[in-house]
Amino acid sequence: MRRALGTCYYPEQWAPERWPLDAGRMVELGLSWVRMGEFAWAEIEPEPEVFAWDWLDRAMEVLGSAGLSIVLGTPTATPPRWMLEKHPDMLAVGADGRTRGFGSRRHYCFSHPGYREEAVRIAGLMAARYGDHPHLGAWQIDNEYGCHDTTLSYSAAARVGFQRWLAAKYGAIGPLNAAWGNVFWSMTYRAFEEIGLPIATVTVPNPTHAMDFRRFAADEVTAFNAAQAAVLRAHSDRPISHNFMGRELSFDAHAVGADLEIATWDSYPLGFLEDRVAAAPDWKRRFARQGDPDFQAFHHDLYRGVAGGRWWVMEQQPGPVNWAPYNPAPLPGMVRLWTWEAFAHGAEVISYFRWRQAPFGQEQMHAGLRRPDDAPASAWEEVAAVAAEIAARPDVATGRAPVALVFDYASAWAWEVEPQGQDFSYFDLVYDVYRGLRRLGLSIDILPPDAEDLAAYPLVLAPGLWTLGEAFLRSIAAAKGQVILGPRAGAKTMDFQIPTTLPPGIPDLECRVAHVESLRPDMELPLAGGGAFRHWAETLEGTAEVVLQRADGGAAAMRSGALTYLGGWPDRTALDRILRATCAELGIEVVDLPDGVRLRDTGAERFLFNYGPEPAEALGHTLPPAGVAILAR
Ligand code: GAL
Repeated sequence: MRRALGTCYYPEQWAPERWPLDAGRMVELGLSWVRMGEFAWAEIEPEPEVFAWDWLDRAMEVLGSAGLSIVLGTPTATPPRWMLEKHPDMLAVGADGRTRGFGSRRHYCFSHPGYREEAVRIAGLMAARYGDHPHLGAWQIDNEYGCHDTTLSYSAAARVGFQRWLAAKYGAIGPLNAAWGNVFWSMTYRAFEEIGLPIATVTVPNPTHAMDFRRFAADEVTAFNAAQAAVLRAHSDRPISHNFMGRELSFDAHAVGADLEIATWDSYPLGFLEDRVAAAPDWKRRFARQGDPDFQAFHHDLYRGVAGGRWWVMEQQPGPVNWAPYNPAPLPGMVRLWTWEAFAHGAEVISYFRWRQAPFGQEQMHAGLRRPDDAPASAWEEVAAVAAEIAARPDVATGRAPVALVFDYASAWAWEVEPQGQDFSYFDLVYDVYRGLRRLGLSIDILPPDAEDLAAYPLVLAPGLWTLGEAFLRSIAAAKGQVILGPRAGAKTMDFQIPTTLPPGIPDLECRVAHVESLRPDMELPLAGGGAFRHWAETLEGTAEVVLQRADGGAAAMRSGALTYLGGWPDRTALDRILRATCAELGIEVVDLPDGVRLRDTGAERFLFNYGPEPAEALGHTLPPAGVAILAR
């Protein structure tokens, strides 16, 4: 596989006379991929069953014959206005009970059977027409599932779907009442038809009800995607992708990925720093023009694990975006750094969003590679530089990392359903651990808990894993290095109840969580020897060896053999101590990196990236701000 660059292009937004010029310039810039079509439904089918394929035929011909491979998107993220006349009840309903309106995108409800049929119909027509097109390189299904808070829908269609899903899961109402503990507060149901969606209850809904709804909603996304994947496959042998978002936890990307050949995601480092990274204001100020030093890498590592290893960045920020609270311009060099960083994590293609800034519509303030006057925009030269550089380093490369970090979407739902402390965020907990590992120069693979090769990693971390499934228990029983679990590991049964033998309930680990507490932001629980627990702490008991102590004498971490249970959310100092000690024990190399510098190893290369706004020294190299160094291993 060869490293390559691309862009997102919307031929329907530009006069056809421009297409050949644009295509020629893309190739001159060094791009070899172009993605299109994902929002073009109203242009393809302007009236129900009335098709206008000719423009798309021509656009594919023009771009393809210029030398570009095409990613064609199914346009189902933007159903046309006429769809509402056919299916007036297809709109998603928000948690406030209000129907979401037409006029932007992603307004459909995943559970509406009529809309799902429409989505499969249009995907099937596109597949039949273009499935073996010589210039078609890959498919993209829909765009950014879940984005703009669109996974959970409280529509009538969702209610019917949820009742069916529950009937299939539980078989009879008795087992559902038992699993949910409906004896509590007189919530016993007599039939599945009596069950509503978990909104507008007086106080919190039953957590098992809420959790089942989250699972149902995620299954709907998986099924929606699988239905399109099946019809594309029936007509085409080109690889199928979906384009995922950053910090989007509302559905299970691993489950969706089982129906894909390639996972892609959208990397907007500056927008994400402003609206998706939990960090102090001075941190955000320091990295305002570079992005958070770990957020891109986290998603590169996450999505690499989603579709069996093949992954791309489908949308790379090239300049200011339009959608974050503040939208600064990148520091010169950062577009190149972000691109190389994605390659360092094993990406096949980095594709810039978008080719030309549109002077109309919702995203007119969003930069592209070309300005609205069609002059090259600020990122142009950096993209040209990377295009030249990858010619000298063409091969996509990844090796197995020494560390596996477990990421489990269901745990994110569980701890949203029952945070127990308002700042308990599963994502932030896992991300803290990821950051701690990266500060030590470690390369990381992010895997689902049922990943088959988990036992092969010297070091596995699984913070906040709400239930321990059979596959995961098998993996950790076979682990040869160290597995660090907790806090909140195995804290619930699959029915969202506290296991009455107490968590974590691992046969080989003689340690129990006697009770838990959440901590206010101005509280901490100091550890003996330095560092503290923040947000969350557990009281541990049992006969396993105490390997870390709280200052109050209690056990902070306990170990039996290859398994360590960590009874709290460690702060930076505590995490650093734990990780350094464990790596030293396991013989895993750590590198002390200056603040803002990050390292990533592939099979044959070692990359250094300077996210900091000042020059930095690392491993004998001086890196300017936005600097990239590539060393041989
Ligand atoms: C992405 C989306 C694109 C565009 C872009 C703007 O989330 O896929 O269609 O809206 O953001 O940054």
